[in-house]
Amino acid sequence: MKDVFAAIAERSSTRSYTGEGLTKEELYCLLRAGLQAPTATNRQEIHISVLERSNPLLAEIEAEKNGGSCPPVNFYYDAPVVLILSGETAYHWTPVDAGIAVENIALAAEGLGLGSVIIGCIRQAMEGPRQAEFAQALRFPEGYSYQIAIAVGHKAAGKEPHAFELDRQVSLL
Ligand SMILES: Cc1cc2nc3c(=O)[nH]c(=O)nc-3n(C[C@H](O)[C@H](O)[C@H](O)COP(=O)(O)O)c2cc1C
Repeated sequence: MKDVFAAIAERSSTRSYTGEGLTKEELYCLLRAGLQAPTATNRQEIHISVLERSNPLLAEIEAEKNGGSCPPVNFYYDAPVVLILSGETAYHWTPVDAGIAVENIALAAEGLGLGSVIIGCIRQAMEGPRQAEFAQALRFPEGYSYQIAIAVGHKAAGKEPHAFELDRQVSLL
């Protein structure tokens, strides 16, 4: 298992997965990482729906997103597991809390030697005409809505971590 600095430095989005699934222990680790993320006022308003690749809901969401800005294949790149994070719609900090939770999951995946990709491109589909239907099928709690998703699995192909520009992105005062 990687330490936290190695996981942060080595994580990058995985867009190609082997057919191998996750063990129960791996899945539990990812869920715990998501739920152990901090939330504003410790509200814990983030819910995680777990879908395996075989779940027909994935194809329904894929069809609903209408081509859009998503990549070829499908929005989850045939990863064996997709986690859909929903949160309390009316709470001011929900989007931030969901972002923190999803990154915790991404880092936990990297720590376990797994790959992941955060998925924002289904937002329109999740907020479109089938919103209520999807929310019910995905068992979002009452008053919750889609925030973000993440696909996780074993990496079939790696990618270098992205570069950044310290000078442009940081001001040392
Ligand atoms: C909020 C958010 C939404 C994203 N949505 C998608 C997506 O829908 N599909 C995708 O392939 N990657 C998505 N990504 C991954 C980004 O494209 C990726 O993080 C970025 O290009 C940097 O690459 P890296 O993750 O390899 O460092 C998303 C990332 C974030 C943070």
